[in-house]
Amino acid sequence: MGHAPRPAHQHRENTLNMSGKDKKYHPQTQVTHGGRRKEWTHGIVNPPVYRASTCLFENMAERAERSKNPSAHHLFYGRKGTPTQWALAEALSELEGGEGCVLYPSGIAAVTGAILSVVKAGDHILITDSAYDPTRSFANSMLKDMNIEVTYYDPLIGAGIQDLIKDNTTAVLLESPGSLTFEVQDIPAIAEAAHDVGACVLLDNTWATPLLIDAFALGVDISIHAATKYIVGHSDVMIGAAIANKKYFRRLQRRAHTMGQTVSPDDAYLTLRGLRTLDVRLRQHEASALTIAKWLEGHDEVATILHPAFESCPGHEIWKRDFKGSSGLFSFVLKRGEYDDTAHFVDDLALFGMGFSWGGFESLALPSEPAHSRSAVKWEAEGPLVRLHIGLENTDDLITDLKAGLDRYGAWLDSKGA
Ligand SMILES: Cc1ncc(COP(=O)(O)O)c(C=O)c1O
Repeated sequence: MGHAPRPAHQHRENTLNMSGKDKKYHPQTQVTHGGRRKEWTHGIVNPPVYRASTCLFENMAERAERSKNPSAHHLFYGRKGTPTQWALAEALSELEGGEGCVLYPSGIAAVTGAILSVVKAGDHILITDSAYDPTRSFANSMLKDMNIEVTYYDPLIGAGIQDLIKDNTTAVLLESPGSLTFEVQDIPAIAEAAHDVGACVLLDNTWATPLLIDAFALGVDISIHAATKYIVGHSDVMIGAAIANKKYFRRLQRRAHTMGQTVSPDDAYLTLRGLRTLDVRLRQHEASALTIAKWLEGHDEVATILHPAFESCPGHEIWKRDFKGSSGLFSFVLKRGEYDDTAHFVDDLALFGMGFSWGGFESLALPSEPAHSRSAVKWEAEGPLVRLHIGLENTDDLITDLKAGLDRYGAWLDSKGA
């Protein structure tokens, strides 16, 4: 059996995150209670939706007082948030163990906002070759236009990253596991090399959420989330978050304010509501994804499982060392056929939808072509790759659906003589 022997999440029971500020409670408790200050909730359970553009000052003295500290929870102007956004930011920051959290209108806005807070013209940034494709588009267009040099590196490079570091390297972006291909990166080794030259370590941590990895303890300076995915959990909100340590938080916050980044209180409310059940949802996503991946591993049409909990996944040993579990997103490679043939697998699936986002309660299947978004390491595989998100449906029903799809796929290839 290829997957890690320990049962789902046994290893993250009763683990307190060790990094960051005072961590009094376990993560399950933090997602339930985070951000629920009485002065924000006024005695009800959920911080309500406070809508605001104009905030009114009693007098000039109060206006002056509220202008002083951008981090203080004072009503100042709608763009700087209300208790609804503050509650979400506080809950996420505490959960991750950071100094503070900035919210963005999408995950990609969080990625680009975080990068722009640590690079300037003339700098050099190292970006993992496995980064989410729109992150690469941003680097290849805006960063280059701003005279910021970009080098893509092999996600499995580990300490070897020091050979790519230059005098002007100020940031290293990781995404672990990587988009589509799920390489697990050696965060401590990369962080050590980056910190030796004073560069900032940023991690797109969307797959693991703050629950499955202790990013700051591993050396990350800014942990970035497309909260659109698991944190929201219901496929109905676009939102991003970046949580920084003490060294980088003020810079991150200042840049976000300067760029006018803000999220609506309604979206913050829904995200906070999703966060409350993140722990139980993630446990189910993990258990169901392991069941489905194990079943796929034994299927005749399947060549490789790219799931961090499986030995076949590059960086599996690092996953075992650094992560507390796995979520519901993974890929598999088919033994034969081409990208276009996968239509015969996915088009008539009854339960798996096809769409770009993930992390909601529903299952998804997305044929993908990683070769188009790689430049440092060539992507080579026996057949086409399909990314699955395993939702909260019954796994027997999901397997029945996948089996029918793979039967259709096999029959189509047989009919072509492939
Ligand atoms: C790993 C990763 N990072 C960032 C993003 C961007 O998030 P959003 O779609 O909220 O902009 C995505 C979206 O698919 C993603 O998968």
